[in-house]
Amino acid sequence: MSITRISVEVLLIADLLPASVAALAQHVTLLDGRDPAARATLVETRGANIRAIATNGHVGASRGLIEALPKLEIISCFSAGVDYIDIAAAAEHGVIVTNTSAALADDVADVAIAKCLLLLRHFAEADRFVREGQWNKGEFPFGRSTKGKRLGILGLGTIGKAIARRAEVMGMSIAYSSRSPQPDAPYRAAASLEALAAESDFLVVCCPATPETRHLVNARILEALGPEGYLVNIARGSVVDEAALVAALQAGTIAGAGLDVFEHEPGLSPELLTMANVSLSPHIGSATHETRAAMGQLMIDNILGHFAKG
Ligand code: 8YV
Repeated sequence: MSITRISVEVLLIADLLPASVAALAQHVTLLDGRDPAARATLVETRGANIRAIATNGHVGASRGLIEALPKLEIISCFSAGVDYIDIAAAAEHGVIVTNTSAALADDVADVAIAKCLLLLRHFAEADRFVREGQWNKGEFPFGRSTKGKRLGILGLGTIGKAIARRAEVMGMSIAYSSRSPQPDAPYRAAASLEALAAESDFLVVCCPATPETRHLVNARILEALGPEGYLVNIARGSVVDEAALVAALQAGTIAGAGLDVFEHEPGLSPELLTMANVSLSPHIGSATHETRAAMGQLMIDNILGHFAKG
């Protein structure tokens, strides 16, 4: 198979999988600016020719960088989250921003569903129960069924829809609250986020992190979710007021939480570490070999697709 090579200079600024970096270098003139000092030199010496940036959700792309590259056309992000890319600066300069939601939605949705199962069926405790030799001393306490539970999705985008599809086949009912109306979605739109929380057994956070969504899930929303309700967050920690969440868990305002993301990663509120009704994981939504490879390929395809359009 012949490899498409385009004569475009691409500035790489994030540490991607070595295979993705190698694959990208086969298609374009890759300028390795992962090291900040090397990046500064490349911007100075080659900035006038750079037409694309390859980055990820953690490094993003600042206004300063965007404005230092007059020929920049595309920022291709190896993540769903583009929160560290200055979207306003990109829009002002006609730079398009692409992400890899389509490649990671299924794996992230699996994590959201796993959190629901962990919280209702106590798999972590059940594993410990067997390992610690408690099985012959008595029965493990009953859990609760997912079937018939009400799932509230905050942000019905690519990932939210992948979660909804899974929840549907598990017999859950689905409602959502989303920034943009979704008239074609076969799910019920709640009147507001507060109404969604009040009507849900699980409130699953899948919306992007933006200044508008910061602390969208606050004490009031948790109060509405109520003592039988669980919060699941697989999106970004900033969408949830973590201090309010800790307080709600301590007070029994909500039943529990499944958290893959936190406000100050890799740190988290220490109170969460000792709570039995909380499932914790270290931001592993898209962290599978298959998906990370697919994200790398999509990031490359987004660059090639853009320049193929002329
Ligand atoms: C990764 C993610 O943590 O895609 C996202 O937005 O949060 C995850 O896939 C990471 O961004 C990969 O660089």
